[in-house]
Amino acid sequence: MKLSLVPTLSTIGLIQRIHRTMTTAIASHDLPSSASRAAPPALPARLRELRSLEDFEHAARRHLPRPVFGYISMAAETRRSLRGNRECFDDYGFVTRVLKDVSRRSTVATLFGHEYAAPFGIAPMGISALSAYRGDLVLARSAARANVPMIMSGSSLIRLEDVAKEKLGAWFQAYLPGDVPNITALVDRIGNAGFQTMVFTVDTPVTPNPEHFARSGFTSPLRPSLGLAWQGISHPRWLFGTFFRTILQHGMPHFENNYARRGAPILSKSVTRDFSDRGHLNWEHFGLIRKIWPGRIVIKGILHREDARIARDMGADGIIVSNHGGRQLDGAVSPLRVLPGIVDACPDIPVMMDSGIRRGSDVLKALALGARFVFVGRPFGYAAAVGGEAGVGHAISLLQQEVSRNMAMLGINGLQELDAQTHLCPYR
Ligand SMILES: Cc1cc2nc3c(=O)[nH]c(=O)nc-3n(C[C@H](O)[C@H](O)[C@H](O)COP(=O)(O)O)c2cc1C
Repeated sequence: MKLSLVPTLSTIGLIQRIHRTMTTAIASHDLPSSASRAAPPALPARLRELRSLEDFEHAARRHLPRPVFGYISMAAETRRSLRGNRECFDDYGFVTRVLKDVSRRSTVATLFGHEYAAPFGIAPMGISALSAYRGDLVLARSAARANVPMIMSGSSLIRLEDVAKEKLGAWFQAYLPGDVPNITALVDRIGNAGFQTMVFTVDTPVTPNPEHFARSGFTSPLRPSLGLAWQGISHPRWLFGTFFRTILQHGMPHFENNYARRGAPILSKSVTRDFSDRGHLNWEHFGLIRKIWPGRIVIKGILHREDARIARDMGADGIIVSNHGGRQLDGAVSPLRVLPGIVDACPDIPVMMDSGIRRGSDVLKALALGARFVFVGRPFGYAAAVGGEAGVGHAISLLQQEVSRNMAMLGINGLQELDAQTHLCPYR
């Protein structure tokens, strides 16, 4: 028996009444943008219990329906790359320097001419508005308030224009459609909206093995079913605070930004999503984008130094070394291991990195090995889900404090002092 989760007109009045009652009970962590940017939202007591980025994962597991949590936490097949992304940091120990007067230290990092407050940012994550109410805006506003970069995903459920118009300095990540007219139309749309930095993700020629999505009940779009309804009912804070609230205030979310036109709804009995074939995309397509995109272009998903060099020679302004957080090719090498080779191949453009960063110490190891900047994915997705803007702000603050504290113990005042020869001891 199938049960539709899409509210009918007859149920909408009831939902509105329950929603009004619930919204006062639900911790209000997503204020309108102008108010929320003026002052950071106060930290609710339940967020104060979260003391490291890992803690947000446990909280999100409780808060989110299984398919939604499963979408964020998913890693490919045997999860070898996911594990490797954490284990690679254990290959290095820190060599501390002492009595260096570290009282003037600063976590400021300059990237593309902008002075950010910390050397990390928020990686692009699709479907964020399903796990957190107005998720992409929550992430973008929190990042802007903390003065760190945020990359809006192309697989998002909020129109890219709605994020761009708040002028939060977010970057936009595009999955390029398979044909030239659609590529051109999307690139034009991103530019017309006002984004200045486009991130072009290149490690998804095909969609990943759906095995673990299927195990958790996640499909894209989600298919209404009894099981899905039960997952909603048994997670009422999410059901009313995110799902129904979104539907009542903004209608059924759709994939808004994979193309210049609107895509499939997030919940549908029969609609299929257009994953038009990206398998044939090649460097000529990158050349085309470089020609038509006047802004900054960052290429994300590079693991081979030769690909990095080609991208640089073709005009990439920056590179994000990434294995997509272990979500694409199971067994793909951890970015930290290939980072120094890529930095060596592209000494004149910023080389950034993501996948597996969870601690301030990870940030510092990556920077010592040559990363100009790092990005963090899942923990900020979980933080948006459990705590909205206050949650993401809290997560950013925890990571920034770890970076600053560890800099002191390492004996440096500025991130530019980090040096693998001085500060890292490889264990093998
Ligand atoms: C829920 C989720 C959705 C993601 N969606 C995208 C996406 O739309 N575009 C993209 O380039 N990368 C996407 N990624 C990959 C992240 O940008 C990033 O590479 C990865 O999460 C970094 O690893 P970490 O989660 O271990 O920090 C996604 C990751 C997650 C967890």
